[in-house]
Amino acid sequence: MNQQTVLTGLFGFPVGQSMSPDMHNAAFRQLGLNFAYLAFAVEPSRLRSAVEAIRALSMRGVNVTIPHKVAVMDYLDDIDGEALDIGAVNTIVNEDGKLIGYNTDGPGYVRSLLEETGVTLAEQRVLLLGAGGAARAVGVSLARKGAKNMKVANRSLDKAENLAQVLGKHVPADVVEWSDESLARAVGEADLIINTTSVGMVPNVDESPIRKEWLRPDALVSDLIYNPRYTKLLKDAEQIGANVHPGLGMFIHQGALAFELWTGQKAPASLMREIVEQKLNQS
Ligand code: ATR
Repeated sequence: MNQQTVLTGLFGFPVGQSMSPDMHNAAFRQLGLNFAYLAFAVEPSRLRSAVEAIRALSMRGVNVTIPHKVAVMDYLDDIDGEALDIGAVNTIVNEDGKLIGYNTDGPGYVRSLLEETGVTLAEQRVLLLGAGGAARAVGVSLARKGAKNMKVANRSLDKAENLAQVLGKHVPADVVEWSDESLARAVGEADLIINTTSVGMVPNVDESPIRKEWLRPDALVSDLIYNPRYTKLLKDAEQIGANVHPGLGMFIHQGALAFELWTGQKAPASLMREIVEQKLNQS
């Protein structure tokens, strides 16, 4: 680092476990870019000052994570259409003092899905399990790219209804009740099943949001969870012969898209994946 180093980083609270600094700094080094990425623990009451500091310090931009992804939108000069539709920002770009908000979570998921599975979105009847922030990002990006139709199943029905209404602007969208009977039918009718809930995440690695016997071998099963790398849901799906799409790709590609917004260069995604896999193996 020197006087010319361009600063980027992460605003979250907490940020201790983040793999983003290692992932981005390795990518900057690989491309010979004089950039650096630091993690900042920003208390919610200090978010406005932290965003102001992006301008004051001439940072090129930051990633924004829990709990700031929605609140930060109030402090930006402009917000990209897809991020507005998602209702959250995870990446800020500083264009000569003008702060622009983007969301790379949803687009990162779609890029990872298409690259890793080769599916044709227009043919997919999608079932989203969960209706929280992650479901919204993934759902909106899939809907904007034109899935065939989408269903949302969530434990609290009101959140499923709210998300289905947003998705309905782009594709036919419906809700599914969180009951065995309704879930079993919806799982049986879906081509692409995406778990966006936290069910199955460490330490609850023996849990799955749905039953193995509901799955069809010709479905594609995707899980946003990347710790563990293969959730019980994905293991169940593999055992019955279904194709699976693990969650790590979304994390890598949300980072790769942010990297591209800041640097204007294609991100070294396979190196970024190697770095993150190393970190996960150590933990
Ligand atoms: P994220 O930003 O990761 O999506 P979130 O907004 O807190 O996090 O959403 C968590 C999602 O997991 C929600 O859809 C939640 O369901 P509720 O809206 O009913 O709370 C879902 N979820 C968490 N624990 C769950 C469980 N044990 N069974 C079913 N769904 C669960």
